[in-house]
Amino acid sequence: MSIAFLLNGTPVRIEGEAPTRTLLDWLREERGLTGTKEACCEGDCGACTVMVTDEGGSKALNACILFLPQLHGKAVRTIEGVSGPKGEMHPVQAAMVAHHGSQCGFCTPGFVVSMAVAHLNGARDHDDQLAGNLCRCTGYAPIVRAAEAAAGEAVPDWMKADRDVLASFAAGEAGAFRPQDSGALAEWYLANPDAVLVAGATDVGLWVTKQLREFPVAFLSGVEDLKGIEVRGGSLHVGACVTISALREAVKDRLPSFAELLRRYASVQVRNAATIGGNIANGSPIGDGPPALIALGATLHLRRGDEMRSMPLEDFFLDYRKQDRRPGEFVAGVSFPESAPALRCYKISKRFDQDISAVCGCFNVTVTDGVVTSARIAFGGMAGVPKRAIRAETALIGRDWTEATMDAAAEAMAGDFTPLSDMRASAAYRMLTAQNLLRRYFHDLNGVPVSVLEVAR
Ligand SMILES: Cc1cc2nc3c(=O)[nH]c(=O)nc-3n(C[C@H](O)[C@H](O)[C@H](O)COP(=O)(O)OP(=O)(O)OC[C@H]3O[C@@H](n4cnc5c(N)ncnc54)[C@H](O)[C@@H]3O)c2cc1C
Ligand code: FES
Ligand code: FES
Repeated sequence: MSIAFLLNGTPVRIEGEAPTRTLLDWLREERGLTGTKEACCEGDCGACTVMVTDEGGSKALNACILFLPQLHGKAVRTIEGVSGPKGEMHPVQAAMVAHHGSQCGFCTPGFVVSMAVAHLNGARDHDDQLAGNLCRCTGYAPIVRAAEAAAGEAVPDWMKADRDVLASFAAGEAGAFRPQDSGALAEWYLANPDAVLVAGATDVGLWVTKQLREFPVAFLSGVEDLKGIEVRGGSLHVGACVTISALREAVKDRLPSFAELLRRYASVQVRNAATIGGNIANGSPIGDGPPALIALGATLHLRRGDEMRSMPLEDFFLDYRKQDRRPGEFVAGVSFPESAPALRCYKISKRFDQDISAVCGCFNVTVTDGVVTSARIAFGGMAGVPKRAIRAETALIGRDWTEATMDAAAEAMAGDFTPLSDMRASAAYRMLTAQNLLRRYFHDLNGVPVSVLEVAR
């Protein structure tokens, strides 16, 4: 393996490391850059946040679940590179001091990097920007006040330098398997079907840091032709390697409820890494992407060698963690209608931010002249796979759009699912919640405020 990237403005080349060595371990153990903290090691706390810049811009990412080959050809800035070359404080650092944004200080480097990236990108939605950084002692108010105070200050020159240096930076071949297009990936994966494909590593990273597993890997971060988002004939075609952040941006105006669901998907750092292809391919019953996409009537596109095939997304999920994917076959992309005014997505989790869904319900019902003419309802967290509520849909179609119809459909929904009890929710809670989400949808489409945020306003 021969990996090259810029580290705090200086080119580095790494030879002979395991491809699944994390950036966090390498920074701390090989470079002595211990400002990047190790805490949860599973992408949950943001103590290890670094800034990564490539041609797409600068992003905050969690170094604990970022493998070295994912950085090839990019620029990494750690907390040590956030202050100036002569030790000048970055405006967010000065604001953290002025607003008493730090107590024990363990979380502070991660917060400062997240704040510095948001400051660079002109992002002012501070609560969202910092939802992936946990602080146990200071509390968030002083930290958010610091972010607000720094927002008007100029971006220091050194924070803008990485993009210019990258333009003339020749990283060369990565050594680790990192194909540049989907054709090369298809050929290699057919010959190496037991390998693990690594897209954003927000799942695979944990197999290494928590389960200490070892496996052959191929990195998808260089496959440019799987990163596109195109509008064709009323449909959005989204490549498998599109990140959740990029997808959220693409659907913000077209499918606002889907975009709002994606705002609740993990944190900025995780959304900047995680891909929609990985979210579908891992087949989790509690992933947030699939229920929304199934409610939209999405089509999944798979590739094996030169052979492409497509299927309704719901048909891909066969059983718990079992998908209709053959050895050597990978997810190439997903397509779905670019507009669906009746789509609503509701995520129910214990915390508002940075939490996995206990139940995720997505509804897309057409009502014509007071009568339901079509219905697609899909849930996560209600079965071993993301699944449509076929009985509830059938109970709606052809009926009047009334509360009585919702009650009948909610009753029918009891036959659609046999949910489990686990640490997120009991089976009874899940079923009652799913049924009530249908009633919530009814009121929502009728223009009644139903979101906790709307009601509080
Ligand atoms: C802190 C944290 C919070 C999270 N919160 C949420 C959340 O709120 N909602 C949610 O839905 N998920 C959440 N996740 C889970 C995770 O982010 C998603 O499942 C993610 O979309 C996986 O995408 P990835 O690109 O990181 O996949 P990876 O980790 O790279 O891969 C995941 C799996 O998919 C396979 N794979 C990846 N790409 C392809 C492809 N193109 N073709 C075939 N196989 C492929 C890999 O081999 C692996 O088996 C969270 C994860 C973390 C760490
Ligand atoms: S150590 Fe917690 S997110 Fe990386
Ligand atoms: S200052 Fe102690 S955890 Fe944030």
